Amino acid sequence: MTTPSRTLAASDGGVLRAAIAYMLAGFGGFLLMGLLGLLMRLDQGGLLAMPPQWFYRIMTLHGSGMVASVLLAALGGLAAAVSETTRLSARTLWIALLIYLLGTGFVDLATLVGGFAGGWTVLHPLPFDARTWTLAAALQMYVGYLLVATGLAVFCTHILVATARTYGGLAKVLAWRLAFTGRQPDGALPRPVELIAAVVAIDGIICALAGAIYLLPLFALAAGLVGNVDALFAKNFVLLFGHTIANLSIYVSAGLVYAALPLYTNREWKTTWPVAFAWNLVIVLMLANYSHHLYADFAQPLALQLLGEIGSYAVGLPSFIVTIIGALTLMYGSRMRWTVTTIFMALGLWGWVFGGLGALLDATIPINQVMHNTMWVPAHFHTYFLLGAAAFCWAYLYHVVATLSRTPDSGISRAAAWLYGIGGAGFVLMFFIAGANSVPRRYAVHPPQWQIYPRIAVPFVLLLTVSLAWLTWDVLRHIRPAWIGTRGGGGGSASAE
Ligand code: HEM
Repeated sequence: MTTPSRTLAASDGGVLRAAIAYMLAGFGGFLLMGLLGLLMRLDQGGLLAMPPQWFYRIMTLHGSGMVASVLLAALGGLAAAVSETTRLSARTLWIALLIYLLGTGFVDLATLVGGFAGGWTVLHPLPFDARTWTLAAALQMYVGYLLVATGLAVFCTHILVATARTYGGLAKVLAWRLAFTGRQPDGALPRPVELIAAVVAIDGIICALAGAIYLLPLFALAAGLVGNVDALFAKNFVLLFGHTIANLSIYVSAGLVYAALPLYTNREWKTTWPVAFAWNLVIVLMLANYSHHLYADFAQPLALQLLGEIGSYAVGLPSFIVTIIGALTLMYGSRMRWTVTTIFMALGLWGWVFGGLGALLDATIPINQVMHNTMWVPAHFHTYFLLGAAAFCWAYLYHVVATLSRTPDSGISRAAAWLYGIGGAGFVLMFFIAGANSVPRRYAVHPPQWQIYPRIAVPFVLLLTVSLAWLTWDVLRHIRPAWIGTRGGGGGSASAE
């Protein structure tokens, strides 16, 4: 295999070590949450008898833990990529990581010890009215969310300030002159990854604020400081927070493709007008399309439902047209070699397209009336998470480890990466087919006529497990040389085999 000829050379070693810690913590969380996913699929297939209460606790932990883990891995990759040109503070990155991880610890406590089982985007007032968990467990979950939001806000604020400082202001790092007038700026243009870092940082800060606006009144209610919190207000904000945090991981990880793919194709990915314009659009569209979660809230103005539908379609433009076609154009005819990184990036593009199409169908109101709350919903988001965002993160993790440890990947690792694609595709396909056959989501007990889908899915999840077991071992044995490779700056040049 070929490792890229020059990358991470200018990065600060301390920042790279913090970035690796983010990526490893995210990868570790993903593995543990994946095992919980396997348990749920075994239970739904009637292959394992799990008390329903435990199914919902596990489902809640798996959903929130997966979203937090993939986002964390993506943020680590972003910090490593941005640090090539932008001075970042390793200390701030570690502080953000610790706050974030403390938050995930509270979520573990609430679900595994406190018995909280309301689902990861649970609606108020269920947590306060539960029969099977205490108010303390619900509050632990909320404290966990608030800490995750705080960690995210610290990280995003730091990235935004640092990138804006490097390019001489917010307008410059967002390439506004190019995006809105088509003219070149006076100074240097940011690389796409820095532009994307600023975009996601803005949305990350707004997302964290939405989380605080949702959570603080609930703490006030629990403390008896207010008598009531409006359920519709809480729903709007929990979904603005939850949907955006999930979306963020997709867009942050797409930024990693912009950073790494040019190194493997030996082609530059320039900040052209379409890139600048599309990513500026993402700032608004990533926030707008959460309202497709409000289709059934007839008490709200019709405009919100229309915004959900229009926003869901419009957000496809920057991702499909600019990023996916841009990436495929870079790959086409480039004589790019298949490495673990490029395999995962190709899988990620595939998963992003198919998951995105599944999401678009579900966001179309007449289709949503039929598919609402069927397995079609986990089908689409598992496709663009597992085979999209997560695949991009593992691509970048391998890129960083291979570059810093200066070790090429092996044929077995490349086979394991393809196996991840096969296992993942079979697993999500069974969610899609079940959804198309009206199997509802979030059911602990599946009657025999629904069990065929999870039973076919389980062997594919086992393929995923085998692939991930090998990749984990492979990453772990190279992590020490990679860590040492961060000393005295970044990786410098890595030899090509
Ligand atoms: C590694 C393989 C995975 C397996 C085997 C798995 C399995 C499952 C299963 C069986 C469910 C319950 C579906 C239902 O009945 O509604 C579920 C829900 C969910 N999964 Fe996964 N999953 C995996 C990966 C992921 C990834 C990568 C993510 C996100 C990054 C993710 C996020 C979620 C979320 C958000 C839910 C919904 C939880 C809720 O409804 O509260 N999963 N998963």
